[in-house]
Amino acid sequence: MSENPLFRGLNRPGSLNPEDMNDLEKKHTPVITAPDKVSRGERFEVVVETGVYMRHPNEYGHHFSWIELYLDDVPVGRVYLQPVIAAPRAVFRLNAAEDYVGKRKLVARAFCNLHGTWVSEKSIDIE
Ligand SMILES: [Fe+2]
Repeated sequence: MSENPLFRGLNRPGSLNPEDMNDLEKKHTPVITAPDKVSRGERFEVVVETGVYMRHPNEYGHHFSWIELYLDDVPVGRVYLQPVIAAPRAVFRLNAAEDYVGKRKLVARAFCNLHGTWVSEKSIDIE
């Protein structure tokens, strides 16, 4: 078991505004790029990327191992990342299915092997 307190739970930055983040938050917070609103039946893309506000190492000893996406509490998928060769970026293609119509939340999680799991969220309206 790691002594690193960052491994005890889900790490969230105090603010999603990069100007208010410390360096650890800038390197680790997953950034979600997705439409604010989609129509039912529409196919759309959600891109999740880390190290956007400040570059994060991508070495065997320090890297992001995976990125995952949820729609509210529904797991959408997880992308495993091989250090050095794979950039910490995942593209998820979603279908705005009838079952998911409403005001929803995209939740991204990214796991750094040295600094634990980092979370961010973005609202999406499925009409
Ligand atoms: Fe890290």
